[in-house]
Amino acid sequence: MDDIVRLAQKMMTRAYAPYSKFHVGAAVRDESGAIHGGCNIENVAYPQGLCAEAAAIAALIGAGGRRVLECAVVGPGPEVITPCGGCRQKLREFAADDLKIHLCGPDGLHRTVTLGQLLPMSFAPHHLERP
Ligand code: THU
Repeated sequence: MDDIVRLAQKMMTRAYAPYSKFHVGAAVRDESGAIHGGCNIENVAYPQGLCAEAAAIAALIGAGGRRVLECAVVGPGPEVITPCGGCRQKLREFAADDLKIHLCGPDGLHRTVTLGQLLPMSFAPHHLERP
């Protein structure tokens, strides 16, 4: 678990957040065990900004991954941050309710929660399956 937390911490240092000045890093592990990182990328047209988790998922998909098996998110502290609602749904596309999400600060891991805790009764890909 150390590797994914460390990568998320490194990603936080690369955040492009000149507007909020709130730097976030994230990392996700794919089904091969490889980890992929991302940081938030803001834009002068504010709604075009990208969250760190979304950037990490994009890196995983671009590398050929299709599942998110573990996730770490790092905020600047002191309060621990959780993925926003949109990112919870983005994670749900590639992960099950039991996905472990490590909530971290610059000093390391604070607590681990599951995606099911953060996004109960989620709308998920299987809902679109037809008999
Ligand atoms: N942000 C993330 O990257 N991930 C989160 O989980 C919460 C918020 C970013 C979006 C924006 O660039 C900044 O943090 C302030 O909201």
